[in-house]
Amino acid sequence: MAIQNIEHPMMKYSNRTKNSYREMEKAANYLPGGVTANIKHFSPYPVVMESAGGAWIKDVDGNQYIDYLMAYGSLALGHGHDDIKQAMADQLAKDGTVLFGTPHPLEYRFAEKIQAYYPSMERLRYTNSGTEATLLAIRLATAYTGKKRIAKFEGHYHGGYNEVLYSINPPLVAAGEMDDPRPVPESSGLEMFTDQRPVILPFNRWQATERLLRQHADELAAVIIEPVQGGFIPAEKQFIEDLRKLTATLQIALIFDEVKTGFRVAMGGAQELYGVKPDLTTLGKVVGGGFPIGIVGGKEAILNRSRPKGNGDVFDVGQGKSSAAREILFHSGTYNGHPTILAAGLAAIHRLEQDFAHTVLYTETMRKDIEALGRKNGIPLKAVGVGTIFNVVCTETTIRHYRDLQKTDLELRKQIDFHLLNEGIYTKPLNRYSISTAHGERELELTLTAYETVLKRVFKKKN
Ligand SMILES: Cc1ncc(COP(=O)(O)O)c(C=O)c1O
Repeated sequence: MAIQNIEHPMMKYSNRTKNSYREMEKAANYLPGGVTANIKHFSPYPVVMESAGGAWIKDVDGNQYIDYLMAYGSLALGHGHDDIKQAMADQLAKDGTVLFGTPHPLEYRFAEKIQAYYPSMERLRYTNSGTEATLLAIRLATAYTGKKRIAKFEGHYHGGYNEVLYSINPPLVAAGEMDDPRPVPESSGLEMFTDQRPVILPFNRWQATERLLRQHADELAAVIIEPVQGGFIPAEKQFIEDLRKLTATLQIALIFDEVKTGFRVAMGGAQELYGVKPDLTTLGKVVGGGFPIGIVGGKEAILNRSRPKGNGDVFDVGQGKSSAAREILFHSGTYNGHPTILAAGLAAIHRLEQDFAHTVLYTETMRKDIEALGRKNGIPLKAVGVGTIFNVVCTETTIRHYRDLQKTDLELRKQIDFHLLNEGIYTKPLNRYSISTAHGERELELTLTAYETVLKRVFKKKN
């Protein structure tokens, strides 16, 4: 089987998105690269959006798209859901303010709801992003174990700070052997933190993971993992169970980073799916209903490291001599537990309690139908995923980890993405698909029609 005559879709893209180009040019006068986060960029320039509703999003040229990015999975109910808008309006009306800066009842009521789905989170704290949540989880693990280094898996993302900015998307030439991966920095400016490099582990390869963990056990405070890599490559059950057992034996805290998978692979995240209890869990995205949030929770004994006591505030008067601050794990934030955001998050969870099962079935149908279209057109294509997330990979083989993913035809996938953009299907090139409760039968039909058109255009069967 060969793939021939790949039409380049870039010309049509440029013609359809002239205003996006102009807007990006203007933005570059103020923002490096015209963007506020590097992930928003793609070549030659990203689509600039101006309005949205339900499963749809509209760009500055008036093109409409079915949105599968869903703000990187945050919008589990789609754009502008009434439940979220109403919950926020009610909260604002009831509170008479946007923010207290003091404890308020919704902080523990929301925690109660989270704990009902994530019983491993015996105590929890709020942060303002997933990045902050994993940062705090690592600090908690370090304080609890008294050890100084962490291990992470190749290809896994946990936020944008020094300890974890290694080997997320490393070039294979620099990444070492499959079973002995090297830490490859993902950013300039990390040079002064070289002694904090994490140990890099190979996902779904138990023998090598076990060897590396045993080798570094004395220095490892934590292993942090995306239990479903990128939200779509699941850990093998035996692998995750072995990881749980070994980390407990070696006294290494096991952190499940469920920022992507929480309320997506199952209501109770990957830990519900696998029936495995991590020591610490981080959540984000869906739990903020589209607003910035992170949550870190876990064993009471670990979380209580951050429990204030006596004169344990860094700002206590005369702290130099008498403050207990240094014995307590520092965690603070002006906006932590923001009442309006918690109201939005709670509304999102309440709605998912009604609609999640249906959205999972819907996602499975879409995956099966996309794969069927691939087969029909003789195309190596899989829609790999769990729950309400999946990704389309151009291959016929099973994907178990980052290096398998690198062997798939990424260039072809990019071509498909641009063709789909031109057909009104939005996902950032190469990104995963996040399905919301707002995606319905019409969107499914339109998406499959667009796929059919694109696959026919892009591929031709050999004879
Ligand atoms: C698994 C995982 N952890 C952490 C983060 C960082 O979260 P945030 O972007 O809210 O800082 C992300 C974001 O995509 C994520 O997917």
